[in-house]
Amino acid sequence: MFQAAIITASDKGAQGQREDVSGQVIREILEANGYEIVHQVILPDDRTLLADEMRAICDKGKADLILTTGGTGFSPRDWTPEATLDVAERLVPGIPEAMRYASLQITKRAMLSRAVAGIRKQTLIINLPGSPKAVRENLEYVITELAHGLEILRGEAGECARK
Ligand code: MTE
Repeated sequence: MFQAAIITASDKGAQGQREDVSGQVIREILEANGYEIVHQVILPDDRTLLADEMRAICDKGKADLILTTGGTGFSPRDWTPEATLDVAERLVPGIPEAMRYASLQITKRAMLSRAVAGIRKQTLIINLPGSPKAVRENLEYVITELAHGLEILRGEAGECARK
């Protein structure tokens, strides 16, 4: 079983002014796919706070997967991708490419998501957009393939080619 952490980036959510529905949608999808949620937090849209949180989870080996929601758009307070790039040691462009590919069939506004994915130590970090609808559409498309990547990251699977 893989361990997952959920970070919701939302100024209003962190102040208790908005219910964290997107975080709950992530939790529901992760649990339905056999992940254990070991950490869930709502933080303001602050690049340093977000990066510090992600770095701590990765460096303590607290989770195999970090999913963020929110802060991937164009608002002056949207800094989640940059916070992720601050801590990522290696980039995983294919995951956001796949999410945008799938999402563009649903809404052309998917092109406005600046989401990134990256690896720090043995943890994969993936940004998701902020709305519950977008979270579901993006995460449900990629979730089935993540386990294979996480197994390789943990050194439990190395050979992708079938005999
Ligand atoms: N992706 C999907 N699948 N469905 C959506 O409704 N909304 C888009 C995009 N990606 C959307 C989506 C919109 S309108 C924006 S502005 C960006 O995600 C960024 O969202 P965020 O600012 O909430 O992170």
